Amino acid sequence: MKVFLTGGSGFIGSRVLERLLARGARVAALWRPGRGEPPPGTQVIRGDLFVPSDWASSLMEFGPDTVIHLAWKGVLGAARNDPDQTLNVHATAELVKLSHRAGAKTWIGLGSQAEYGPCNRRVDEQQATNPTTLYGASKLAAGWLARGVSARLGLRCAWVRLFSAYGPGDDPSWLIPSLILALAEGRRPALTRCEQLWDYIHVDDVAEAILAVAGAETAEGVFNLGSGRARPLREIVLRVRDLIDPSLPLGFGELPYRPDQVMHLEANIDRLQQATGWQPRVEWETGLKQTVEWFLERSRRG
Ligand SMILES: NC(=O)c1ccc[n+]([C@@H]2O[C@H](COP(=O)([O-])OP(=O)(O)OC[C@H]3O[C@@H](n4cnc5c(N)ncnc54)[C@H](OP(=O)(O)O)[C@@H]3O)[C@@H](O)[C@H]2O)c1
Repeated sequence: MKVFLTGGSGFIGSRVLERLLARGARVAALWRPGRGEPPPGTQVIRGDLFVPSDWASSLMEFGPDTVIHLAWKGVLGAARNDPDQTLNVHATAELVKLSHRAGAKTWIGLGSQAEYGPCNRRVDEQQATNPTTLYGASKLAAGWLARGVSARLGLRCAWVRLFSAYGPGDDPSWLIPSLILALAEGRRPALTRCEQLWDYIHVDDVAEAILAVAGAETAEGVFNLGSGRARPLREIVLRVRDLIDPSLPLGFGELPYRPDQVMHLEANIDRLQQATGWQPRVEWETGLKQTVEWFLERSRRG
């Protein structure tokens, strides 16, 4: 496999890159200057997603058979409602056209559960979409365009709607890392009542799923990607606390729910499993322990 990867420096992309290299794929990664260096064996294509004129010729020269597009501006927090989210839509559609010109036959992009908006039940891909953030709306638009342009150009396109990933290396502002870091630093974390049911999937399972989609020649269209099982958020919070120190206090109920708070987030992953044979493998307890240890070590290092 000859893969052009965007977002390879990120939480999810770094795991995808690692696995592609381990399996002997030839990989060219779009890499912004000043972002460190990718692992040995990666061909680096320097540039910004939004300035394709800087890197399009390198992409043509590389000539991938597969493109995996994970880069996105504004994944976190307030940036999710930044009007600049729309830049991602144009960049995604342009990337499909460039991928075709470079000779790619398979195109995979990462969407999000945010495309559905608050559903408060287990959702499959037939669920109506009603995003409440510009992030969700832009992912939805990008996914529609990627599939539409791919269909016109004859590429196989899969748009993978990821639910919530967790694991070592996650951004510290997400719930699980921020909880671990607060407890490690002796702070009492302020929390909502944590009555949500939440589907968390380990980042290694996410990376395996993306590779499975890339390798399954008939996998096309929209796929949900989660663990397929929601857990009570309160139990997750308590388990994290207990892994660190069961005597530490937690501030349940100290924060209000957001106006558009999702109370039940759960992916139906039947379609993905049937198309690829992929299954989530990381046991919840193992993944959570590994994540707690990783962030505790990071906190010790300061
Ligand atoms: N984490 C989750 O739970 C989750 C859930 C649903 C969907 N997703 C999607 O999964 C993908 C990866 O997310 P992540 O959690 O791994 O986030 P992340 O760690 O923030 O990674 C984002 C990646 O996008 C790259 N990027 C951003 N703007 C760019 C630009 N202008 N040009 C080139 N590269 C750019 C970043 O590169 P730099 O290192 O140069 O900044 C980084 O590699 C995103 O599409 C995200 O929307 C994630």
